[in-house]
Amino acid sequence: MTSILFVCLGNICRSPLAEGIFIDLVEQAGAQDQYHIDSAGTGAYHIGKSADPRSIAVAKKHNIHLPSTARQINIGDFATFDIIIAMDSDNLRNIRYLSATPADEKKVYLMRQFDPQGPGNVPDPYLGAADGFDTVYTMLRRSCQGLFDAIEAGTV
Ligand code: 4NP
Repeated sequence: MTSILFVCLGNICRSPLAEGIFIDLVEQAGAQDQYHIDSAGTGAYHIGKSADPRSIAVAKKHNIHLPSTARQINIGDFATFDIIIAMDSDNLRNIRYLSATPADEKKVYLMRQFDPQGPGNVPDPYLGAADGFDTVYTMLRRSCQGLFDAIEAGTV
Protein backbone atom coordinates (compact mmCIF):
# COMPACT_ATOMS: atom_id res chain seq x y z
CA MET A 1 0.00 0.00 0.00
CA THR A 2 1.32 3.41 -1.03
CA SER A 3 -0.32 6.51 0.43
CA ILE A 4 -0.02 9.85 -1.36
CA LEU A 5 -1.14 13.32 -0.28
CA PHE A 6 -1.39 16.06 -2.92
CA VAL A 7 -1.02 19.57 -1.49
CA CYS A 8 -1.65 23.11 -2.79
CA LEU A 9 -2.63 26.35 -1.04
CA GLY A 10 -6.44 26.29 -0.94
CA ASN A 11 -7.15 22.58 -1.61
CA ILE A 12 -9.88 23.59 -4.05
CA CYS A 13 -8.15 23.99 -7.45
CA ARG A 14 -4.87 22.11 -8.08
CA SER A 15 -4.58 19.37 -5.46
CA PRO A 16 -8.19 18.07 -5.84
CA LEU A 17 -7.52 17.82 -9.59
CA ALA A 18 -4.23 15.96 -9.00
CA GLU A 19 -6.03 13.65 -6.57
CA GLY A 20 -8.82 12.92 -9.10
CA ILE A 21 -6.36 12.31 -11.95
CA PHE A 22 -4.21 9.99 -9.83
CA ILE A 23 -7.26 8.01 -8.68
CA ASP A 24 -8.22 7.64 -12.36
CA LEU A 25 -4.75 6.29 -13.26
CA VAL A 26 -4.88 3.86 -10.35
CA GLU A 27 -8.35 2.66 -11.34
CA GLN A 28 -7.28 2.20 -14.97
CA ALA A 29 -4.40 0.04 -13.73
CA GLY A 30 -6.76 -1.93 -11.46
CA ALA A 31 -4.53 -1.03 -8.51
CA GLN A 32 -7.15 0.50 -6.17
CA ASP A 33 -6.23 -1.79 -3.28
CA GLN A 34 -2.58 -0.69 -3.49
CA TYR A 35 -3.09 3.06 -3.09
CA HIS A 36 -4.54 5.52 -0.60
CA ILE A 37 -4.93 8.98 -2.19
CA ASP A 38 -5.94 12.27 -0.56
CA SER A 39 -5.37 16.02 -0.89
CA ALA A 40 -4.99 18.99 1.47
CA GLY A 41 -4.12 22.70 1.50
CA THR A 42 -1.44 24.61 3.39
CA GLY A 43 -4.04 27.37 3.98
CA ALA A 44 -7.28 27.20 5.95
CA TYR A 45 -9.37 29.53 3.75
CA HIS A 46 -11.64 26.96 2.14
CA ILE A 47 -11.96 24.15 4.71
CA GLY A 48 -15.07 22.04 4.09
CA LYS A 49 -15.58 23.14 0.48
CA SER A 50 -15.84 20.98 -2.62
CA ALA A 51 -13.38 21.55 -5.45
CA ASP A 52 -13.66 24.84 -7.36
CA PRO A 53 -16.34 24.60 -10.11
CA ARG A 54 -13.65 25.29 -12.73
CA SER A 55 -11.60 22.28 -11.57
CA ILE A 56 -14.76 20.16 -11.54
CA ALA A 57 -15.58 21.32 -15.09
CA VAL A 58 -12.15 20.50 -16.54
CA ALA A 59 -12.13 17.13 -14.75
CA LYS A 60 -15.59 16.33 -16.12
CA LYS A 61 -14.36 16.95 -19.69
CA HIS A 62 -11.95 14.05 -19.08
CA ASN A 63 -14.48 11.84 -17.25
CA ILE A 64 -12.78 12.37 -13.92
CA HIS A 65 -14.62 12.73 -10.61
CA LEU A 66 -13.21 14.95 -7.84
CA PRO A 67 -14.16 13.54 -4.42
CA SER A 68 -12.27 16.19 -2.40
CA THR A 69 -13.59 18.15 0.58
CA ALA A 70 -11.03 20.84 1.44
CA ARG A 71 -8.97 20.40 4.58
CA GLN A 72 -5.70 21.78 5.92
CA ILE A 73 -2.53 19.68 6.08
CA ASN A 74 -1.45 18.85 9.63
CA ILE A 75 1.50 17.25 11.37
CA GLY A 76 -0.30 13.89 11.57
CA ASP A 77 -0.23 13.67 7.78
CA PHE A 78 3.49 12.88 7.94
CA ALA A 79 2.67 9.69 9.83
CA THR A 80 -0.23 8.77 7.54
CA PHE A 81 1.34 9.39 4.13
CA ASP A 82 4.40 7.88 2.41
CA ILE A 83 4.60 10.56 -0.27
CA ILE A 84 3.57 14.23 -0.04
CA ILE A 85 3.40 16.15 -3.32
CA ALA A 86 3.56 19.97 -3.35
CA MET A 87 2.18 21.88 -6.34
CA ASP A 88 4.65 24.77 -6.11
CA SER A 89 7.73 25.94 -4.26
CA ASP A 90 5.68 27.98 -1.73
CA ASN A 91 3.67 24.88 -0.83
CA LEU A 92 6.93 22.90 -0.59
CA ARG A 93 8.44 25.40 1.86
CA ASN A 94 5.30 25.51 4.01
CA ILE A 95 5.06 21.71 4.14
CA ARG A 96 8.73 21.54 5.14
CA TYR A 97 8.10 24.01 7.99
CA LEU A 98 5.55 21.51 9.32
CA SER A 99 7.82 18.48 9.05
CA ALA A 100 9.32 17.40 12.35
CA THR A 101 12.11 15.06 11.26
CA PRO A 102 14.51 14.55 8.32
CA ALA A 103 12.51 11.38 7.50
CA ASP A 104 9.34 13.51 7.22
CA GLU A 105 11.12 15.95 4.95
CA LYS A 106 12.26 13.17 2.62
CA LYS A 107 8.61 12.35 1.88
CA VAL A 108 8.01 15.75 0.25
CA TYR A 109 8.39 16.25 -3.52
CA LEU A 110 7.42 18.87 -6.09
CA MET A 111 4.68 17.69 -8.49
CA ARG A 112 6.56 18.69 -11.62
CA GLN A 113 9.67 16.70 -10.66
CA PHE A 114 7.61 13.93 -12.25
CA ASP A 115 6.63 15.92 -15.36
CA PRO A 116 8.73 14.98 -18.41
CA GLN A 117 8.37 18.67 -19.36
CA GLY A 118 9.25 19.86 -15.83
CA PRO A 119 10.54 20.76 -13.36
CA GLY A 120 8.74 23.93 -12.28
CA ASN A 121 5.62 24.98 -10.42
CA VAL A 122 2.02 24.05 -11.16
CA PRO A 123 0.76 27.64 -11.38
CA ASP A 124 -2.06 28.78 -9.10
CA PRO A 125 -5.06 29.19 -11.44
CA TYR A 126 -7.47 30.63 -8.82
CA LEU A 127 -7.40 34.28 -9.91
CA GLY A 128 -6.62 33.63 -13.57
CA ALA A 129 -8.70 32.92 -16.68
CA ALA A 130 -10.68 29.70 -17.15
CA ASP A 131 -8.17 28.35 -19.69
CA GLY A 132 -5.61 28.30 -16.86
CA PHE A 133 -7.43 25.24 -15.59
CA ASP A 134 -6.87 23.42 -18.90
CA THR A 135 -3.14 24.20 -18.69
CA VAL A 136 -3.05 22.96 -15.10
CA TYR A 137 -4.94 19.79 -16.06
CA THR A 138 -2.42 18.97 -18.81
CA MET A 139 0.55 19.50 -16.48
CA LEU A 140 -1.06 17.43 -13.75
CA ARG A 141 -1.93 14.61 -16.16
CA ARG A 142 1.71 14.34 -17.30
CA SER A 143 3.02 14.70 -13.74
CA CYS A 144 0.63 12.15 -12.23
CA GLN A 145 1.52 9.64 -14.96
CA GLY A 146 5.22 10.25 -14.22
CA LEU A 147 4.65 9.81 -10.49
CA PHE A 148 2.60 6.63 -11.00
CA ASP A 149 5.28 5.16 -13.30
CA ALA A 150 8.04 6.07 -10.81
CA ILE A 151 6.19 4.39 -7.92
CA GLU A 152 5.43 1.29 -9.99
CA ALA A 153 9.11 1.16 -11.06
CA GLY A 154 10.20 1.51 -7.42
CA THR A 155 12.23 4.64 -8.05
CA VAL A 156 10.30 6.81 -5.59
P1 4NP B 1 -5.36 26.08 -5.03
O1 4NP B 1 -5.86 27.51 -5.54
O2 4NP B 1 -4.21 26.35 -4.08
O3 4NP B 1 -4.89 25.42 -6.28
O4 4NP B 1 -6.54 25.42 -4.39
C1 4NP B 1 -6.21 28.54 -4.64
C2 4NP B 1 -7.47 28.60 -4.14
C3 4NP B 1 -7.83 29.63 -3.27
C4 4NP B 1 -6.88 30.58 -2.94
C5 4NP B 1 -5.60 30.52 -3.44
C6 4NP B 1 -5.26 29.49 -4.30
N1 4NP B 1 -7.24 31.65 -2.07
O5 4NP B 1 -6.37 32.49 -1.76
O6 4NP B 1 -8.39 31.72 -1.61
